[in-house]
Amino acid sequence: MLTHAITADPVLEFVSDVRAGLTLRGQKELPSKYLYDDVGSALFEVISVLPQYGLTRADERLLRRHASEIADNVPKHVAVAELGSGSGKKTRWILKALCRRQHISYFPIEISPTALAMCERELGDIESMSIVGFEREYLDGLIEVVARRHDGQSILVLFLGSTIGNFDRPAAAKFLREVRNILQPGDSLLLGTDFEKPIPQLIAAYDDPLGVTAAFNLNLLARINRELDADFVLEQFEHVAKFNPDARSIEMHLRSRIDQNATIPRAGLSVSFREGETIWTESSHKYGWTEPLRIAKDAGFVCKAQWIDQEWAFAENLFIAE
Ligand SMILES: C[S@@+](CC[C@H](N)C(=O)[O-])C[C@H]1O[C@@H](n2cnc3c(N)ncnc32)[C@H](O)[C@@H]1O
Repeated sequence: MLTHAITADPVLEFVSDVRAGLTLRGQKELPSKYLYDDVGSALFEVISVLPQYGLTRADERLLRRHASEIADNVPKHVAVAELGSGSGKKTRWILKALCRRQHISYFPIEISPTALAMCERELGDIESMSIVGFEREYLDGLIEVVARRHDGQSILVLFLGSTIGNFDRPAAAKFLREVRNILQPGDSLLLGTDFEKPIPQLIAAYDDPLGVTAAFNLNLLARINRELDADFVLEQFEHVAKFNPDARSIEMHLRSRIDQNATIPRAGLSVSFREGETIWTESSHKYGWTEPLRIAKDAGFVCKAQWIDQEWAFAENLFIAE
Protein backbone atom coordinates (compact mmCIF):
# COMPACT_ATOMS: atom_id res chain seq x y z
CA MET A 1 0.00 0.00 0.00
CA LEU A 2 1.22 3.45 -0.83
CA THR A 3 0.99 5.51 2.36
CA HIS A 4 1.17 9.26 2.66
CA ALA A 5 2.93 9.71 6.00
CA ILE A 6 2.32 12.66 8.28
CA THR A 7 4.33 15.76 7.43
CA ALA A 8 3.95 18.01 10.52
CA ASP A 9 5.94 17.10 13.65
CA PRO A 10 3.62 14.77 15.60
CA VAL A 11 5.83 14.88 18.72
CA LEU A 12 5.55 18.67 18.99
CA GLU A 13 1.78 18.43 18.79
CA PHE A 14 1.71 15.61 21.35
CA VAL A 15 3.86 17.70 23.75
CA SER A 16 1.62 20.71 23.32
CA ASP A 17 -1.61 18.73 23.86
CA VAL A 18 -0.22 16.92 26.92
CA ARG A 19 0.92 20.23 28.39
CA ALA A 20 -2.42 21.91 27.72
CA GLY A 21 -4.49 18.99 29.06
CA LEU A 22 -2.52 18.34 32.25
CA THR A 23 -2.24 22.00 33.28
CA LEU A 24 -5.98 22.70 33.11
CA ARG A 25 -7.17 24.25 36.37
CA GLY A 26 -10.17 21.96 36.82
CA GLN A 27 -10.61 18.54 35.23
CA LYS A 28 -7.35 17.32 33.65
CA GLU A 29 -7.79 15.89 30.16
CA LEU A 30 -5.87 14.11 27.41
CA PRO A 31 -7.27 13.88 23.83
CA SER A 32 -8.55 10.37 23.02
CA LYS A 33 -6.72 10.28 19.68
CA TYR A 34 -3.48 9.63 21.62
CA LEU A 35 -4.86 6.29 22.87
CA TYR A 36 -3.96 4.84 19.45
CA ASP A 37 -0.23 4.24 19.24
CA ASP A 38 1.02 0.77 18.23
CA VAL A 39 0.09 -0.77 21.59
CA GLY A 40 -3.24 1.07 21.79
CA SER A 41 -4.30 0.11 18.25
CA ALA A 42 -3.49 -3.55 18.99
CA LEU A 43 -5.42 -3.41 22.28
CA PHE A 44 -8.42 -1.84 20.53
CA GLU A 45 -8.55 -4.87 18.22
CA VAL A 46 -8.81 -7.09 21.33
CA ILE A 47 -11.52 -4.87 22.84
CA SER A 48 -13.56 -5.27 19.65
CA VAL A 49 -13.85 -9.05 20.22
CA LEU A 50 -14.62 -8.94 23.96
CA PRO A 51 -18.02 -10.47 24.86
CA GLN A 52 -19.05 -7.28 26.70
CA TYR A 53 -18.26 -4.98 23.74
CA GLY A 54 -21.15 -5.77 21.40
CA LEU A 55 -20.70 -2.63 19.31
CA THR A 56 -18.17 -3.92 16.76
CA ARG A 57 -20.07 -7.18 16.26
CA ALA A 58 -23.31 -5.24 15.65
CA ASP A 59 -21.54 -2.99 13.15
CA GLU A 60 -20.04 -6.01 11.40
CA ARG A 61 -23.38 -7.89 11.27
CA LEU A 62 -25.06 -4.90 9.61
CA LEU A 63 -22.26 -4.40 7.09
CA ARG A 64 -22.19 -8.12 6.24
CA ARG A 65 -25.98 -8.44 5.85
CA HIS A 66 -26.60 -5.20 3.98
CA ALA A 67 -23.39 -4.75 1.98
CA SER A 68 -25.10 -5.30 -1.39
CA GLU A 69 -27.97 -2.95 -0.52
CA ILE A 70 -25.49 -0.29 0.61
CA ALA A 71 -23.53 -0.68 -2.63
CA ASP A 72 -26.76 -0.45 -4.68
CA ASN A 73 -27.53 2.87 -3.02
CA VAL A 74 -24.29 4.65 -3.94
CA PRO A 75 -23.22 5.70 -7.45
CA LYS A 76 -21.23 3.10 -9.44
CA HIS A 77 -18.21 5.26 -10.08
CA VAL A 78 -17.12 5.78 -6.48
CA ALA A 79 -13.99 6.25 -4.39
CA VAL A 80 -14.17 5.23 -0.72
CA ALA A 81 -12.60 7.31 2.08
CA GLU A 82 -12.71 5.74 5.53
CA LEU A 83 -12.21 8.02 8.55
CA GLY A 84 -10.32 6.22 11.36
CA SER A 85 -10.35 2.86 9.58
CA GLY A 86 -8.59 0.97 12.36
CA SER A 87 -7.76 -2.50 11.01
CA GLY A 88 -10.54 -2.18 8.40
CA LYS A 89 -11.69 -5.72 9.17
CA LYS A 90 -15.43 -5.17 8.87
CA THR A 91 -15.02 -2.74 5.96
CA ARG A 92 -14.18 -5.79 3.82
CA TRP A 93 -17.89 -6.59 3.33
CA ILE A 94 -18.76 -3.27 1.81
CA LEU A 95 -15.57 -2.98 -0.25
CA LYS A 96 -16.17 -6.42 -1.75
CA ALA A 97 -19.77 -5.52 -2.62
CA LEU A 98 -18.58 -2.32 -4.34
CA CYS A 99 -15.78 -4.12 -6.20
CA ARG A 100 -18.26 -6.59 -7.71
CA ARG A 101 -19.52 -3.70 -9.83
CA GLN A 102 -16.25 -2.09 -10.85
CA HIS A 103 -12.70 -1.28 -9.74
CA ILE A 104 -12.60 1.07 -6.76
CA SER A 105 -10.03 3.16 -4.92
CA TYR A 106 -10.03 2.87 -1.14
CA PHE A 107 -8.41 5.55 1.04
CA PRO A 108 -8.14 4.72 4.76
CA ILE A 109 -7.41 7.89 6.79
CA GLU A 110 -5.74 7.19 10.11
CA ILE A 111 -3.75 8.94 12.76
CA SER A 112 -2.19 5.60 13.73
CA PRO A 113 0.43 4.18 11.34
CA THR A 114 -0.02 0.80 13.06
CA ALA A 115 -3.73 0.81 12.22
CA LEU A 116 -2.92 1.72 8.60
CA ALA A 117 -0.47 -1.19 8.38
CA MET A 118 -3.10 -3.56 9.83
CA CYS A 119 -5.59 -2.25 7.31
CA GLU A 120 -3.29 -3.03 4.41
CA ARG A 121 -2.70 -6.58 5.70
CA GLU A 122 -6.42 -7.08 6.21
CA LEU A 123 -7.73 -5.70 2.92
CA GLY A 124 -4.77 -5.80 0.50
CA ASP A 125 -6.02 -9.04 -1.08
CA ILE A 126 -9.32 -7.63 -2.39
CA GLU A 127 -9.33 -7.87 -6.16
CA SER A 128 -10.25 -4.86 -8.27
CA MET A 129 -9.31 -2.44 -5.51
CA SER A 130 -6.37 -0.11 -4.95
CA ILE A 131 -5.50 1.13 -1.44
CA VAL A 132 -3.75 4.39 -0.65
CA GLY A 133 -3.45 5.15 3.06
CA PHE A 134 -3.30 8.64 4.54
CA GLU A 135 -1.63 9.11 7.91
CA ARG A 136 -3.66 12.21 8.68
CA GLU A 137 -6.33 13.71 10.91
CA TYR A 138 -9.82 12.94 9.59
CA LEU A 139 -10.60 16.17 7.76
CA ASP A 140 -7.07 16.80 6.46
CA GLY A 141 -7.14 13.31 4.96
CA LEU A 142 -10.59 13.76 3.47
CA ILE A 143 -9.56 17.03 1.80
CA GLU A 144 -6.63 15.20 0.16
CA VAL A 145 -8.82 12.33 -1.01
CA VAL A 146 -11.42 14.66 -2.48
CA ALA A 147 -8.66 16.55 -4.33
CA ARG A 148 -7.93 13.28 -6.21
CA ARG A 149 -11.51 12.85 -7.37
CA HIS A 150 -11.76 11.95 -11.07
CA ASP A 151 -14.34 13.51 -13.37
CA GLY A 152 -17.76 12.05 -12.66
CA GLN A 153 -16.52 10.17 -9.61
CA SER A 154 -18.53 10.19 -6.42
CA ILE A 155 -17.11 9.87 -2.89
CA LEU A 156 -18.41 7.47 -0.24
CA VAL A 157 -17.19 8.41 3.26
CA LEU A 158 -17.24 5.65 5.87
CA PHE A 159 -17.25 6.62 9.55
CA LEU A 160 -17.94 3.31 11.24
CA GLY A 161 -17.88 1.85 14.74
CA SER A 162 -19.60 4.87 16.31
CA THR A 163 -16.34 6.81 16.40
CA ILE A 164 -18.58 9.89 15.95
CA GLY A 165 -19.52 9.25 19.61
CA ASN A 166 -16.04 10.35 20.69
CA PHE A 167 -17.11 13.92 19.86
CA ASP A 168 -19.46 15.72 22.24
CA ARG A 169 -22.79 16.64 20.67
CA PRO A 170 -21.93 20.17 19.43
CA ALA A 171 -18.55 18.94 18.12
CA ALA A 172 -20.21 16.00 16.31
CA ALA A 173 -22.66 18.38 14.63
CA LYS A 174 -19.80 20.70 13.63
CA PHE A 175 -17.73 17.76 12.38
CA LEU A 176 -20.55 16.49 10.14
CA ARG A 177 -21.04 20.01 8.75
CA GLU A 178 -17.31 20.14 7.96
CA VAL A 179 -17.46 16.74 6.26
CA ARG A 180 -20.48 17.93 4.25
CA ASN A 181 -18.66 21.11 3.19
CA ILE A 182 -15.74 19.08 1.84
CA LEU A 183 -18.12 16.88 -0.20
CA GLN A 184 -20.25 17.62 -3.27
CA PRO A 185 -23.99 17.09 -3.64
CA GLY A 186 -24.66 13.42 -4.34
CA ASP A 187 -21.65 12.12 -2.34
CA SER A 188 -22.48 9.64 0.42
CA LEU A 189 -21.70 9.12 4.10
CA LEU A 190 -22.14 5.78 5.85
CA LEU A 191 -22.20 6.58 9.57
CA GLY A 192 -22.25 4.07 12.43
CA THR A 193 -24.06 5.23 15.58
CA ASP A 194 -24.47 3.51 18.93
CA PHE A 195 -27.79 4.02 20.76
CA GLU A 196 -28.47 4.53 24.47
CA LYS A 197 -28.62 1.33 26.52
CA PRO A 198 -29.02 0.29 30.15
CA ILE A 199 -26.15 1.83 32.14
CA PRO A 200 -24.76 -1.50 33.51
CA GLN A 201 -24.50 -2.83 29.93
CA LEU A 202 -22.60 0.29 28.87
CA ILE A 203 -20.28 0.24 31.88
CA ALA A 204 -19.45 -3.43 31.25
CA ALA A 205 -18.59 -2.60 27.62
CA TYR A 206 -16.03 -0.01 28.75
CA ASP A 207 -14.73 -1.77 31.88
CA ASP A 208 -14.34 -5.44 31.02
CA PRO A 209 -13.37 -8.02 33.67
CA LEU A 210 -10.21 -9.05 31.79
CA GLY A 211 -8.88 -5.52 32.12
CA VAL A 212 -8.21 -5.01 28.39
CA THR A 213 -9.97 -1.63 28.33
CA ALA A 214 -8.07 -0.68 31.48
CA ALA A 215 -4.79 -1.55 29.74
CA PHE A 216 -5.90 0.44 26.65
CA ASN A 217 -6.54 3.47 28.85
CA LEU A 218 -3.40 3.13 31.02
CA ASN A 219 -1.30 2.77 27.87
CA LEU A 220 -1.81 6.49 27.34
CA LEU A 221 0.38 7.19 30.39
CA ALA A 222 2.80 4.47 29.26
CA ARG A 223 2.96 6.22 25.87
CA ILE A 224 3.81 9.53 27.56
CA ASN A 225 6.54 7.68 29.48
CA ARG A 226 7.92 6.13 26.27
CA GLU A 227 7.72 9.13 23.97
CA LEU A 228 8.20 12.07 26.36
CA ASP A 229 10.49 10.41 28.95
CA ALA A 230 7.87 10.83 31.70
CA ASP A 231 7.86 8.89 34.97
CA PHE A 232 4.20 7.98 35.51
CA VAL A 233 3.99 4.93 37.80
CA LEU A 234 1.16 3.01 36.12
CA GLU A 235 0.29 1.01 39.25
CA GLN A 236 -0.58 4.30 40.95
CA PHE A 237 -3.42 5.00 38.50
CA GLU A 238 -6.60 3.04 37.85
CA HIS A 239 -9.04 2.87 34.95
CA VAL A 240 -12.54 4.21 35.62
CA ALA A 241 -15.57 4.03 33.29
CA LYS A 242 -18.60 6.05 34.34
CA PHE A 243 -21.86 7.22 32.81
CA ASN A 244 -22.41 10.96 32.50
CA PRO A 245 -26.21 11.38 32.49
CA ASP A 246 -26.10 15.02 31.32
CA ALA A 247 -23.88 14.30 28.32
CA ARG A 248 -25.40 10.80 27.81
CA SER A 249 -21.93 9.44 27.42
CA ILE A 250 -19.61 6.88 28.91
CA GLU A 251 -16.45 8.56 30.12
CA MET A 252 -13.11 6.88 30.61
CA HIS A 253 -10.80 8.37 33.23
CA LEU A 254 -7.49 7.50 34.87
CA ARG A 255 -7.80 7.98 38.62
CA SER A 256 -4.79 8.68 40.83
CA ARG A 257 -4.72 6.14 43.68
CA ILE A 258 -2.56 8.43 45.90
CA ASP A 259 -1.24 12.00 46.15
CA GLN A 260 1.66 12.02 43.71
CA ASN A 261 3.76 13.95 41.18
CA ALA A 262 4.83 13.03 37.66
CA THR A 263 7.49 14.74 35.58
CA ILE A 264 7.38 14.94 31.79
CA PRO A 265 10.83 16.24 30.81
CA ARG A 266 10.17 16.62 27.08
CA ALA A 267 7.17 18.80 27.89
CA GLY A 268 9.13 20.69 30.57
CA LEU A 269 6.38 19.81 33.00
CA SER A 270 5.87 18.51 36.51
CA VAL A 271 2.27 17.66 37.41
CA SER A 272 0.78 16.89 40.80
CA PHE A 273 -2.27 14.70 41.38
CA ARG A 274 -4.40 14.47 44.50
CA GLU A 275 -5.64 11.04 45.59
CA GLY A 276 -8.87 10.39 43.67
CA GLU A 277 -8.20 13.08 41.04
CA THR A 278 -8.75 11.91 37.45
CA ILE A 279 -7.52 12.54 33.93
CA TRP A 280 -10.43 12.37 31.46
CA THR A 281 -9.23 10.41 28.43
CA GLU A 282 -12.27 9.51 26.29
CA SER A 283 -16.02 9.94 25.94
CA SER A 284 -18.41 7.76 23.97
CA HIS A 285 -21.70 9.54 23.42
CA LYS A 286 -24.79 7.42 22.96
CA TYR A 287 -27.64 8.53 20.73
CA GLY A 288 -31.44 8.62 20.95
CA TRP A 289 -33.30 6.85 18.13
CA THR A 290 -33.86 9.85 15.87
CA GLU A 291 -30.73 11.81 16.80
CA PRO A 292 -28.39 10.59 14.00
CA LEU A 293 -30.97 11.62 11.38
CA ARG A 294 -31.44 15.04 12.95
CA ILE A 295 -27.75 15.96 13.22
CA ALA A 296 -27.08 14.70 9.70
CA LYS A 297 -30.02 16.71 8.34
CA ASP A 298 -28.77 19.85 10.11
CA ALA A 299 -25.36 19.23 8.50
CA GLY A 300 -26.84 19.08 4.98
CA PHE A 301 -27.39 15.35 4.42
CA VAL A 302 -30.59 13.45 3.64
CA CYS A 303 -31.10 9.94 4.93
CA LYS A 304 -31.25 7.33 2.17
CA ALA A 305 -31.50 4.29 4.45
CA GLN A 306 -30.95 3.15 8.02
CA TRP A 307 -30.28 -0.40 9.23
CA ILE A 308 -30.61 -1.25 12.94
CA ASP A 309 -29.11 -4.31 14.61
CA GLN A 310 -31.56 -6.44 16.59
CA GLU A 311 -29.10 -7.70 19.22
CA TRP A 312 -27.20 -4.53 20.14
CA ALA A 313 -28.91 -1.18 19.54
CA PHE A 314 -26.65 0.19 16.81
CA ALA A 315 -27.40 1.71 13.41
CA GLU A 316 -25.72 2.01 10.07
CA ASN A 317 -27.03 5.24 8.48
CA LEU A 318 -26.59 6.00 4.79
CA PHE A 319 -26.73 9.74 4.11
CA ILE A 320 -26.50 11.62 0.82
CA ALA A 321 -25.06 15.15 0.62
CA GLU A 322 -27.73 17.62 -0.55
C1 LIG B 1 -12.73 3.71 17.93
S1 LIG B 1 -11.48 3.31 16.76
C2 LIG B 1 -12.50 2.65 15.46
C3 LIG B 1 -11.77 1.86 14.44
C4 LIG B 1 -12.67 1.25 13.35
N1 LIG B 1 -13.27 2.29 12.52
C5 LIG B 1 -13.75 0.41 13.95
O1 LIG B 1 -14.91 0.74 13.79
O2 LIG B 1 -13.43 -0.62 14.59
C6 LIG B 1 -11.04 4.91 16.14
C7 LIG B 1 -9.93 4.91 15.09
O3 LIG B 1 -9.79 6.26 14.63
C8 LIG B 1 -8.41 6.64 14.66
N2 LIG B 1 -8.40 8.08 15.01
C9 LIG B 1 -8.69 8.64 16.22
N3 LIG B 1 -8.64 9.98 16.14
C10 LIG B 1 -8.31 10.27 14.87
C11 LIG B 1 -8.12 11.50 14.16
N4 LIG B 1 -8.28 12.68 14.76
N5 LIG B 1 -7.81 11.45 12.85
C12 LIG B 1 -7.64 10.24 12.20
N6 LIG B 1 -7.81 9.05 12.83
C13 LIG B 1 -8.15 9.07 14.13
C14 LIG B 1 -7.76 5.78 15.72
O4 LIG B 1 -6.39 5.58 15.45
C15 LIG B 1 -8.59 4.49 15.63
O5 LIG B 1 -8.00 3.54 14.78
